[in-house]
Amino acid sequence: MLQLPKVIGHRGAMAYAPENTLESFREAHRRGATWVEIDVKLTSDGVPIVVHDDSLKRTTGVDRLAAETPVAELPASVPTFEQAIACFGELGLGCNIEIKPCKGREEETARVAVATLRRLWPANLPAPLLSSFKDASLAAACAAVPEFARALLVDELKDDWRERARAVEAVGINTSGKRLTAPRAVEIKQAGYLLSTYTVNDPDVARVLVAMGTDCVITDMPDVILAALAR
Ligand code: G3P
Ligand code: MG
Repeated sequence: MLQLPKVIGHRGAMAYAPENTLESFREAHRRGATWVEIDVKLTSDGVPIVVHDDSLKRTTGVDRLAAETPVAELPASVPTFEQAIACFGELGLGCNIEIKPCKGREEETARVAVATLRRLWPANLPAPLLSSFKDASLAAACAAVPEFARALLVDELKDDWRERARAVEAVGINTSGKRLTAPRAVEIKQAGYLLSTYTVNDPDVARVLVAMGTDCVITDMPDVILAALAR
């Protein structure tokens, strides 16, 4: 059974360091996080990289789409998935890998991500958790390497959540802390799923979500939320 921590650093520790960078993963670790969440998509030449947006502009200043950039021309601050995994191995960090495909590459991105994990995920680290807003990505991951645990990632859960979770053999539900309702949280926990909520930076809100049944809080400020939940 997958073991999730109480707190996961969102894109590393993005309140304190540039998101989805090695610096951000180190910062999350320094601030007490034992896991981080990252976003993975593909370059034009099919290399998995860690970046949130389709465009590199917001995070690097380079006005180009990730999907149209070969890995050799990537700005230095954007890690490859392989570099990120090496960093996690060095720091002992677990990871929630959000598969964030560019349009049309839902299955390919998932297949490349799990093949990379199978090849490189360090044996000393806790087993990772895959998540995605794209059910097609989770289904492809499930078909390719079923042993990597999956969570359905849904901003606002509708009544079809069970059906969707079953279809990709998910063990967890990752959802917005702003939109989760108490009855839905009960339903998810009674059905035996791990429940994670994002992106929660307010200590009081984190405590309420945990009281509602959240197992794991995904936050930009892992130190703040760890302290809040320790009390
Ligand atoms: O995985 C949780 C969260 O990262 C999902 O939304 O847009 O921040 O990747 P986003
Ligand atoms: Mg994400």
